[in-house]
Formats: sequence, C-alpha cells, structure tokens
Amino acid sequence: MNTHSAISVDNVGVTFRSRDGETNTVLSGVDFDVEHGQFVSIVGQSGSGKTTLLKTISGLQPATDGEVRIKDKPIAEGVDEIGMVFQSPVLLPWRNNLDNVLLPLEFRGNRDRTAEAYARELLDMVGLEGKAKRYSYELSGGMQQRVAICRALVSNPELLLMDEPFGALDAMTRDSMNFEIQRIWRQAGCSVLFVTHSISEAVWLGDRVVVIGGRPGRIVADITVDLPRLRTKEHRYSPEFADLVGEVESHIGVTAGIS
Ligand SMILES: Nc1ncnc2c1ncn2[C@@H]1O[C@H](COP(=O)(O)OP(=O)(O)O)[C@@H](O)[C@H]1O
Ligand SMILES: [Mg+2]
Repeated sequence: MNTHSAISVDNVGVTFRSRDGETNTVLSGVDFDVEHGQFVSIVGQSGSGKTTLLKTISGLQPATDGEVRIKDKPIAEGVDEIGMVFQSPVLLPWRNNLDNVLLPLEFRGNRDRTAEAYARELLDMVGLEGKAKRYSYELSGGMQQRVAICRALVSNPELLLMDEPFGALDAMTRDSMNFEIQRIWRQAGCSVLFVTHSISEAVWLGDRVVVIGGRPGRIVADITVDLPRLRTKEHRYSPEFADLVGEVESHIGVTAGIS
C-alpha cells in the first residue's frame, strides 16, 4: 500500500447477503491506488461491480473484506472531501440551479455569501453563466449534468467519483462534456475516478484505464495512457490512441454490451 496515495483500495471484497441468506460475492481482491491528482477511468461489463466499487470507495457501501483508505485514513472516519456525480443529475425541481449546487453546503450549515459566490463561479466555469436562478426543467440534459458536477465540486472535494455521468447524453453533448471535464479536473486539481461504458472516452480522459472483469469482479487490467495533456480531438485519431482502445477492448472480452 502506498501511504501517499489519494485513494488506496486494499484487497477489497464485497459480498451481498439476501434476506433468505444467499450470498453474492460481487468484488474480490480488488487492489489499486490512485495518486493525488490522477484521473483514473474504470470500465467493465454491465454487472461487473463498477458502481459497487465506487460506493465502497465513497463509504456508502461497506467492504466485506479489505479496506479503503482515503489519504491514508480509513473511510469509516468520515471523509467529507468526496464529491459524487451519478448517471442522472438528480436535481431538486423546486430549487433553482444555484440552490441545487449549494445543497451539500447547506446540509452542513456552511451556506454563506462566500459559498454563494463560489457556487456562481462554478456555474460560470461550466458555461452556465446567467443560469443561476433558472430551474432544471429550463435546462438541457447536458446543462443539468453540469449543475450536478458543480454540486459535487462546491465543497472543494479532493476526490471526485463519477459513475457514468454522461451515459444519458447525446453523442455531441457528450463530446463537449469530455472536454469540459478535462478542463474542470485540471483547474480543480482533484483526483478522479470515472466509470464509463465508452472505451474511447475512458482512454481519452484517463491517465490510466482500470478494467474490472470476472465473477466475482476483480481488476483484470490496469493500463497506463501515455498520451500528452491537454488532450485534443486529434489524439482520438492517433495510432497510439487506437492501440490503447484495442488493448482495453481485449481485456473486456467482448466489445459489445458493456455498460
Ligand atoms: N445493494 C445490493 N444488494 C444486492 N446486490 C447488489 C446490490 N448492489 C449491486 N448488487 C449486485 O452486484 C452486482 C454488480 O452490480 P453493479 O455494481 O451495479 O455493477 P455495474 O455498475 O458494473 O453494472 C450485480 O449483480 C448486482 O445485482
Ligand atoms: Mg453501474
């Protein structure tokens, strides 16, 4: 275990037990570290345990075996420097965008003028200037997801966990969100775990691509993406990029039907 890591996943296993006592081991012997400021993509077939892994790292789901440490502290000590973004933005329809972004700070009694100014700054940063007082029904899907990203960033998390955040978006919006998230990550300086079912998205965004596979799920590959930053559109057409996509695909087993 590397004690200087942002996240240390140490031999983690997760077993679910149903009411009638049946057990289902979803993850077993999952072991990896994320360095500070690193962007790590996670891919794997549907049902391979990606969401379970993110929930375990965030502390929402207890590990049955092993341990998750965030900045060398056990997750049980309560880590408030984690921001989460899910596949759907889950904004509260009766609150405007600014109030949705400020929700996590309000819960902790930390909403004040400085926080409001920062929330507005974040909305500007993701290209939603002038939309602070608007409601989610007035926004496109991509804009709503950007509000959800601001909500995850408002407490200055050192760690951003994203579970298929762009899965519900159309291809063009998704494309621009990829550029957006690369920019946000570099500006915020946080470490990111990013689950996606798009292999090219995983390669284009990641410093590494971790592939989860098998039953129970474990890490079947951990591939370093040695492409320069900032990544541009051109990188997607380079032979190096195609090779990396092919390598990730080969570890997933099938190239269709992942999620
Ligand atoms: N709370 C839960 N209780 C029981 N089984 C669960 C629970 N959450 C997930 N599972 C099971 O764990 C497996 C992996 O699910 P999940 O982590 O959502 O996979 P992925 O995100 O890779 O599609 C699935 O078989 C799912 O049914
Ligand atoms: Mg999932």
